Amino acid sequence: MENTANLNIEGDIAFIDLNYPPMNSLCQSLRDNLKKCLENAMQDNTVKAIIIHGQGRVFSAGADINEFGKPLESPHLPDICDLIEASDKPIIAAIHGTALGGAFEIALSTHFRIATPTASIGLPEVHLGLLPGSAGTQRMPRLVGVKNAIDVMTSGQQIIAKKAIEMGAIDEIVSDIKEGGISFAKKILSEGRHLKRLSKSKGAIENKEEGLKVIEEQRAHWRKINPNLEAPQKIIDCVEQAIKLDFKEGMIFEQKSFQELMSSDQSSCLIHAFFAERKSNKIPELARGAKPRTLEKLGVIGGGTMGSGITIAALNSGIPVTMIERDAESIERGVENVHKIYRRDVEKGRLTQEKADAILKNYSTSTNLEDLADKDMIIEAVFEQLDVKKEVFSKLDAIAKEGAVLASNTSYLDIDKIASATKRSGDVIGLHFFSPANIMRLLEIVVPESVKDDVVATGFHLAKLLKKVPVRAGNCDGFIGNRILENYAKAASYMMEDGASPYDIDKAVVNFGYPMGPFQMFDLAGGDIGWDDRKRRAAFRSNHERYVNIADRICEKGWFGQKTGRGYYKYTPEARRGAEDPEVLAIVEEERSVKGITPKNFTPEEIIRKYLAAMVNEGAKVLEENMALRPSDIDVTKLFGYAFPRHKGGPMKYADQYGLDKILSDLKEFEKEDPHFWKPADLIVKLVNEGKNFDSLN
Ligand code: NAI
Repeated sequence: MENTANLNIEGDIAFIDLNYPPMNSLCQSLRDNLKKCLENAMQDNTVKAIIIHGQGRVFSAGADINEFGKPLESPHLPDICDLIEASDKPIIAAIHGTALGGAFEIALSTHFRIATPTASIGLPEVHLGLLPGSAGTQRMPRLVGVKNAIDVMTSGQQIIAKKAIEMGAIDEIVSDIKEGGISFAKKILSEGRHLKRLSKSKGAIENKEEGLKVIEEQRAHWRKINPNLEAPQKIIDCVEQAIKLDFKEGMIFEQKSFQELMSSDQSSCLIHAFFAERKSNKIPELARGAKPRTLEKLGVIGGGTMGSGITIAALNSGIPVTMIERDAESIERGVENVHKIYRRDVEKGRLTQEKADAILKNYSTSTNLEDLADKDMIIEAVFEQLDVKKEVFSKLDAIAKEGAVLASNTSYLDIDKIASATKRSGDVIGLHFFSPANIMRLLEIVVPESVKDDVVATGFHLAKLLKKVPVRAGNCDGFIGNRILENYAKAASYMMEDGASPYDIDKAVVNFGYPMGPFQMFDLAGGDIGWDDRKRRAAFRSNHERYVNIADRICEKGWFGQKTGRGYYKYTPEARRGAEDPEVLAIVEEERSVKGITPKNFTPEEIIRKYLAAMVNEGAKVLEENMALRPSDIDVTKLFGYAFPRHKGGPMKYADQYGLDKILSDLKEFEKEDPHFWKPADLIVKLVNEGKNFDSLN
């Protein structure tokens, strides 16, 4: 890798370009070449100013992800940053595209920063549970002040040039980095502008007292919004030391903090989540060379919760959608479901009216299925009943053009059975979106027996167009996500019947890092959905399976959760998030006494141990039945569709960290009370016997 950074001298200006396509990530070779280019330019007497810029689409996206977790080879970035800053000749970072992480730390060590209007900067290390480790935590506050620096580093967000100039992170906006760079360099040379070396003064953190006050406010803020996350707190600690110590001591503190985070479970989990997300679109169909079919026109059947969400997701990606409903009244409701989202976006300033109108030009509706005859893909989102879906698909078979992809958004039903209603089962696939479908990023792509490879490839292509995170799932009841959910929901109901209140369980799960517990989630999703599903399965339920009646008894009262004002919790204007309900607890107690159960105490740790063991055990069964390609796909499913806390990496990563042998011994302990439910998955037994973990299968 010879040319990862190049030096070109034009007149008295040296241009150093970063050149490691596609993102100019700061790999060892680039760092090495950059250092050499800098040294050469500094030694060249003809050079008066140095401009660092990126080739291709970006300045640089920062660290090379392929070097993650490996010992870093020299030259190290902090040393290069020091070299840049110490230069006697002015060095200018000329940014286009993005300058993120280590790349922006390079820019922080230059004496001046200019950027194109569309460029953005950022220090996103926090997303990986880390902090900027090349003096970012020390230079950034000196440049933009304590509050701005903490905001940029703890949010990890990209800051567009206009905002960056407002906060002082860049000096000037230029339309072209080359031309703009030359005139900026000439200007500072002719003005004899002072070279700002951020390490040499306190800059924007001169006022110590004020700075420390902001530090305390920010600490309290992060403790409140996410007490579990380590990296934001450590970033704040580093900024505090930037205020209190000199640069050199501050750097030692930053390095120590960086190393602590680097070896933490949290960053290991966040890095796992990052890679897992990138891996989930590696599927056998694409490896076999399948190419997606044309995807220019979409039909959506059903304008309810899901149909409208899917419609919005597609419209927002510029795909024209025709929505079909049963009758005039239903289509009116469907239209309102779509329009109200755009109305709200306009009201909240997220979208201009013109933009909303332009998007909605691509939206048409009908009550006649025949209007789907020219669609490339048709997604069905009607009621969750097999016969209703089969009827829709059999009609579609007669209407859809040859080669159209026919997809069902079913939550649980057998896609092969749905496909059997057509004479083209190779074109039928499951596309399981999550509610609200215009927001939630997960898309389970359910691959039935007879589907063709290019149809699967088209599903993945749709995910890309819609900016969803796809996971390939096998065609089993509930696919990956809902199948596993059902298992830990059962574990929660067993614990409830055995002595834990639903409120204790929710609290333990929230403490673990979920935004809500299972009973709060049932209330949000609507208790009737699970109730219908339990009725559907009643006939197939094994005699050995323990069945808890509490949920049914709550549903029998018409308490379906938030939408009916009552479920496990009572929702009132005063208690919008729900209050604990003594009547629910009375039902729980009645059910315990009917079954002769003496309630026992559960600590939060015991609740989590069972909840997670149930999740992991079913995850392992999903894997051994080849319903998921790899453990990390299960993690992606749970992270993006079920709010599993990202800093815990997903259930399978959690199991590896907790210890798969410990999961197995927990399961064996629980198995004594209920051998049917808690039987350890064969895969877990096998992996433990071989001394392996789930990661060995990723
Ligand atoms: P919904 O009840 O809100 O909407 C269903 C819509 O389909 C209704 O507007 C109904 O008028 C329409 N419909 C029924 N039969 C029709 C037909 N023959 N032709 C045209 N339209 C017809 O239901 P929801 O929640 O949108 O669910 C739809 C599907 O999505 C179900 O299969 C469900 O299991 C699945 N799903 C639901 C999720 C959720 O959280 N609600 C999440 C993921 C999947």
